[in-house]
Amino acid sequence: MAILGVRKYGDPVLRRRAERVREVTPEIRATVRDMIDTMYHEVGLGLAAPQVGVALRLMVVDEEKGRGPLALINPEIVEEGGRVVAEEGCLSIPGIFATVARAEWVRVEAQGVEGQPLGLDARGLLARVLQHEMDHLDGVLFIDRLDPIERDRVKRQIRKGGLREDAPRRAFAL
Ligand code: NI
Repeated sequence: MAILGVRKYGDPVLRRRAERVREVTPEIRATVRDMIDTMYHEVGLGLAAPQVGVALRLMVVDEEKGRGPLALINPEIVEEGGRVVAEEGCLSIPGIFATVARAEWVRVEAQGVEGQPLGLDARGLLARVLQHEMDHLDGVLFIDRLDPIERDRVKRQIRKGGLREDAPRRAFAL
């Protein structure tokens, strides 16, 4: 078990497009375990590998429905629909929260930790978490999805105040 350091806004790894996992090796499974430990330690509902400095298409989620942690390797959104606006935060941008429009439901295909194919239909909070983490794999942050005025407000806030590590968690952080 290891708690990994979460990379913060400004770290170039958060802006890279992550590479596909070619084979689910013991190292990949160890990374998944560490990411799950880190997600719980940070009280996040999801974590993408680039957030711990690993530029691979790999994410873990647990939106607290009692299912336990779910690891998705090489996930893809193959279908989506609807539109819903809700407040979001990100473990890599602590203290910043803003409302983001996302698809209401998604169908995701991925591989599990044994390399097995995995299909998932999600709506509500899980759908939002999956879309947020998927963005991380493409180097996209939730603040990129704000309208220009709101994005400028957030960027000014970061420039003036920096990132507040001890900020209260108003919304869920991913
Ligand atoms: Ni995030």
